[in-house]
Amino acid sequence: MKLLLKGGSVVDPGGGRSGPADVLIENGLIADVLKPGSGPKDAETIDVKDRVVMPGVVDIHTHLREPGFEYKETIASGTRAAAAGGVTSVACMANTDPVNDNGQITEYILEKAQTAGVVRVYPVGAVSRGLKGEVLAEIGELAAAGVCALSDDGHVIANSDLMRRGMEYAATFDLPVICHCEDMSLVGDGVMNEGFVSTELGFPANPPHAEEIMIFRDVTLARLAGARLHVAHVSTAGGVEIIRWAKEKRVMVTAETCPHYFTLTDDAVRTFDTNTKVNPPLRSEADRRAVIEGLRDGTIDVIASDHAPHNIVEKAVEFSYAASGISGIETMLSLSLGLVKDEGMDISDIVEKLTIAPARALGLPGGTLAAGEPADLAIVDAAEIWRIDPEAFLSKGKNTPFAGRDVTGRVKMTIVSGDIVYREGVIV
Ligand code: DOR
Repeated sequence: MKLLLKGGSVVDPGGGRSGPADVLIENGLIADVLKPGSGPKDAETIDVKDRVVMPGVVDIHTHLREPGFEYKETIASGTRAAAAGGVTSVACMANTDPVNDNGQITEYILEKAQTAGVVRVYPVGAVSRGLKGEVLAEIGELAAAGVCALSDDGHVIANSDLMRRGMEYAATFDLPVICHCEDMSLVGDGVMNEGFVSTELGFPANPPHAEEIMIFRDVTLARLAGARLHVAHVSTAGGVEIIRWAKEKRVMVTAETCPHYFTLTDDAVRTFDTNTKVNPPLRSEADRRAVIEGLRDGTIDVIASDHAPHNIVEKAVEFSYAASGISGIETMLSLSLGLVKDEGMDISDIVEKLTIAPARALGLPGGTLAAGEPADLAIVDAAEIWRIDPEAFLSKGKNTPFAGRDVTGRVKMTIVSGDIVYREGVIV
């Protein structure tokens, strides 16, 4: 079957393309990107005039919560939320219950994704058994079952020797390690960033140095182990600086940040809204600026959501008791496009950080509209202004600090393997 997306403006940094073009899809794959109006007459045509046509977002940091926390999210609800956000591939973290630290859990997630999911799902396996940071997980078994990376994300591997061994194993199987960088002895019982605002509010605080120290440790260990390292959710100026240095030293490191770190600061915590509580925490304006600079100069390769859905019972409590995390997969694309409007960044650079760069960081297919690639696309109205309403989320997690915020750029359609999976608010 042939499908022609006609009249749009293609933004495909992976294929080095930007401008008016028609996209031809055949048998679930990209067949060609053509001069406007030059497509075959026998193709089914969708008019995408005035729309940006881009590769589907590859979100390499999500929490789908299944198995074990289905009251927060399921593979079915999380992948529907992904589709609504223009996301066509997700890597899902191992902090499920049971933890994804063995082949059976990986197989369960992959099977469930096949039957209940609407976008591609790539499970991330744990580095340590039970995410306890004590002994290594069944890494060979996880690799054989098909994990795309290893990570104890949500938990921190305090023992440097264990992290080193984990990286050495990971390198053997050519798997990247995704590190959650926080020195928990410095984090202590901190619930927000350490700084002026925490002092004023009197909250126990988590200093930026907790992140910086662990990023430095992990790039050092990656160099020692010859491993591929991906630094999750970079939030600090110091972290950006260390990653910049590590790249100069040719450490095999990539890095991501999330929309909340370049959109908000710890000032948002003054509302006492527990939806502003996230790990690592929202930082200072100087950190936010440094993260944007890191995106601009390429130190930060990837924008990921760190989609962390929680139930209302875990958020409608005092700040100190609230769970950390933001339900972010449905807002990541629009908030990222905010960098075009507010910071003058190029839309191609933003799309790159949402598509081809994350696909490359974890070695996943897609992320580009090159011929022969899976026909995974997002069709976006880059000019539409809309108001974020968590009650309209397809995710079970309504926990966003962006409720009521007006953003520019809206996903109109999401296509996976040539099939429309989402159109104007509805899963197809
Ligand atoms: O805020 C967070 N929530 N940060 C993490 O690293 C984990 C996540 C979760 O699983 O809820």
